[in-house]
Amino acid sequence: MGELKRIAFFDTRPYDRTYFDAFNNGRYEIDYIESKLSSKTAALAKGADAVCIFVNDNACKDSIDALCGLGIKVIALRCAGYSNVDFKAARHRISVLRVPAYSPYAVAEHAIALLQTVNRKTHRAYNRTRDYNFNISGLEGQDLHGKTAGVIGTGKIGRIFIDICRGFGMKVIAYDLYPAKDSGIDYVDLDTLFRESDIISLHCPLTKETEHIVNAAAFDKMKKNAIIINTSRGALIDTIDLLDALTLKKISGAGLDVYEEEASFFFQDYSDKGIPDDILALLLAKPNVVMTSHQAFFTKEALENIATITLQNLDDYFAGKELINEVRYTKTEDRIMEGLPRKKS
Ligand code: NAI
Repeated sequence: MGELKRIAFFDTRPYDRTYFDAFNNGRYEIDYIESKLSSKTAALAKGADAVCIFVNDNACKDSIDALCGLGIKVIALRCAGYSNVDFKAARHRISVLRVPAYSPYAVAEHAIALLQTVNRKTHRAYNRTRDYNFNISGLEGQDLHGKTAGVIGTGKIGRIFIDICRGFGMKVIAYDLYPAKDSGIDYVDLDTLFRESDIISLHCPLTKETEHIVNAAAFDKMKKNAIIINTSRGALIDTIDLLDALTLKKISGAGLDVYEEEASFFFQDYSDKGIPDDILALLLAKPNVVMTSHQAFFTKEALENIATITLQNLDDYFAGKELINEVRYTKTEDRIMEGLPRKKS
């Protein structure tokens, strides 16, 4: 048997270790590193054959240059989104693999949890009853039944979210750059979606086109009772505009699992230090904002799938097989392409 391939595993959390150790079965030597990948920390991957990264690792050009300098030829993302990778820098130098779906149910169900927390104010009720305060004044919500859900992005997660909303008896309208044919989804333009929805949930990727897709102009169109839910990527919403909209009561509340500047804070404990980010502090101070720190994916089923698929992607890479979960930039079409079967060169 040859030497085991080594994986430099960045931004390790205890649960990563548990699930990757359980599914690795000794086939890779995994070097668990606590730091996030950046141009400064890339050197920690010295001697590795692959790096494994998550949502807030920074695979920018400088990081990729440094990894290539170490002779590393593959990055295995243990997540679906890839807005943290510079694909132009990676082109023809380092393969980028991802886990396209690990549990769309986990994310869609968490979006609903955020929605109903903001709507029915259970976060405030929890604090009150623990303090023996059984007063319910100020905690009124709205029925979801009969209301309109506006869904931006009708891929795997968006469609499950739609099914759940329909279960509540909601009318669903949606916007997608690539509407799904014969899906029975009522597609509308963005303007109509912003104007007619009582709740708006974001399920599209972060791209040049979707950055700040929800901004001051969008908030101006929304209903006063609207609740916005974001479990996709923070920069889909202009956070300063969101703060204004909440302060001026242009909308009723927000449920956020992601935040534009989350990379500096999420997945870490700042309870003793406080946070040097006034925007985040202001958001968290609002009683009608509920924030979780990028945990929508965080179920047992998703963690099992993440470990299994990430390791399978690497098996396929090292065996020279088709890389069905590769993401790459094509110069001819000037766009990023996902999951096209292609032999490793
Ligand atoms: P998907 O690829 O199945 O669906 C994305 C949908 O967005 C597609 O229908 C696509 O046509 C649409 N879309 C692309 N560009 C668009 C645009 N400019 N405007 C409107 N729609 C557009 O992706 P999936 O699996 O449903 O995931 C959605 C997003 O959820 C991911 O991009 C990721 O950012 C986020 N996510 C968050 C997690 C969390 O833990 N909070 C976990 C997993 C994913």
